[in-house]
Amino acid sequence: MDYFLIDGPTPLHGEVRVAGAKNAALPLMAAALLARGESVLTNVPELRDTRFFLELLRELGVGGSLEAGTLRLDTSGTGEALEAPYDIVRKMRASIYVLGPLLAAHGEARVSKPGGCAWGPRPVDLHQAGLTALGAEVAEEHGYIVARCRGRLPGGRFRFEPVSVGATCNVLMAAVLARGESLLENCAREPEVVQLGEALIAAGARIEGLGTRALRIQGVDELRPLRAAVIPDRIEAGTFLAAVAVAGGRVSLAGCRGDHLEPILGVLRDLGTEIHAEGELLIAERRGPLQPIKVETRPFPGFPTDMQAQIMAAAALAGGISRITDTIYPDRFTHAAELERLGASIEVKNGTATIIGVDALQGAPVMATDLRASAALVLAGIAAQGRTEVRRVYHIDRGYERIEERLAALGARIRRCRD
Ligand code: EPZ
Repeated sequence: MDYFLIDGPTPLHGEVRVAGAKNAALPLMAAALLARGESVLTNVPELRDTRFFLELLRELGVGGSLEAGTLRLDTSGTGEALEAPYDIVRKMRASIYVLGPLLAAHGEARVSKPGGCAWGPRPVDLHQAGLTALGAEVAEEHGYIVARCRGRLPGGRFRFEPVSVGATCNVLMAAVLARGESLLENCAREPEVVQLGEALIAAGARIEGLGTRALRIQGVDELRPLRAAVIPDRIEAGTFLAAVAVAGGRVSLAGCRGDHLEPILGVLRDLGTEIHAEGELLIAERRGPLQPIKVETRPFPGFPTDMQAQIMAAAALAGGISRITDTIYPDRFTHAAELERLGASIEVKNGTATIIGVDALQGAPVMATDLRASAALVLAGIAAQGRTEVRRVYHIDRGYERIEERLAALGARIRRCRD
C-alpha cells in the first residue's frame, strides 16, 4: 500500500496548474445518461473517483474512454442494465448520481444505498423524497433504492432541507426530462451545480434560476449529447493556497476561477496570507506569522466544509486560539486527532474545534481517514520539523491528481513509497 514520506519544514515556491473539479465531473458524467449518443467532457481530472464512475457507467452499458482529460461517453447501448451494484457504490458514494438520470431516461433505477463514511452517517433521504415529489415510486429493497415511474415523470415541487449538493443535482437531472414543470427550492448554489445546469441547458434543457436557491424546470422530450469543459477544482486550488498558509512561501496558481474561490480567500487572508491576481494567475504569499481565525462552514457561497481540515492545519500554527465550526458535517473532525499526533493542540466539542496555536509541529507517522483529512496531514507534514509518514494515501488519490509530484515541484520534500 502507498504512503507518503515528507521532510519538513519547507516553504513552497513556484507555479502549479489547477486540475478539473472532481465534484463537477461526477454529476456531468451521470448526466450523459439523459441523452442518447456520445457526450464529450474535457478537462476531466484523472482520479480514482472519475475512474470508478467510468467503471459504473460501463456497468450500465455506456461505451466510455478517458484519455488525456477527454472523456467520451456513448449511451447508445444503455437501457438494459439499470442497477448500480453494491460493489461499486460502496467504493464511491457519488454513484447515487445515476439514480435520477436512469429513472428519467428509462423509467426505472436500482442503486445500492450508500453507507456512511469516516465521519459518520450521510443520509440520502432528500434524493429519495425529491424524486418522489416529481412523481416517482421510490422504495428500499434489500439494501437498494429502487425508483420507478410509468411513462415520463410528471414533475412536481420540492424543498431541500438542509441544502444538499447531491440531492439538488440528482433531482434536477430527473426533472429536465419530466412531462411537466418542476419547482425546486432551497437548492445548492455550488459552482459544480451551476456547471451541471449550464451543460444541461446547452443540451436543450429548460432551467431557470441557476445559481439561486430556486430552480424552475420545464421538462423537455429529449436532450442532445452533452459537451462541457469541466470547471477548475476550487477545493484543489484552495488546498494549494492553504499549503502556502501552512508552510509559507510564494506560489502562483494557474487555471483557477477567482470568483469560485471568494469564500476561501477571505479566510486565508484572515490567517495572514497575501493573495492577489496577476493576469491569469492567482498569487499567494505568506511571510509573517499566522493569525488565529474563527470560521463556520456553510453551503456556497459560505466557507466550504471541504476546506475545513486544510484550514485547521494552518490554524494549528497560528498565534492564539482559533475556532472552526462545521455546520454541514458536525462530526467531520477525524483529522484533529492525527494533527495532534504532529503536536497540534485541538479540542473538538459539539461540531466545533478549538485550536490553540503552537510554535511548531513535529513530524510523526499519521493515518489518513478521508480525502480532505489526508490533504490536511500532508500540508501539516510539509511544515512540521522532521519526518512525517502519511498512511492510507489512497484517500488523497480520490480527489487530487499526483499531488506529491506537484507539491515536490513547489519544493516540498515529499515522495510516494510502497510497502
Ligand atoms: C457533496 O457531497 C460533495 N461531494 C462533498 O465533497 C461535500 O462535502 C458536500 O457536497 C458538501 O459541500 C461531491 O460533490 C461528490 P450534501 P454530498 O448532500 O452531495 C445532508 C469531497 O471532499 N443531507 O450537500 O453528499 C448531509 O448529511 C466531498 O470532495 C441529508 O440530510 O453532500 C449534510 O449534512 C466530501 N439528506 C448536508 O445535507 C440527503 O439526502 C449536505 O450534504 C443528502 C444530504
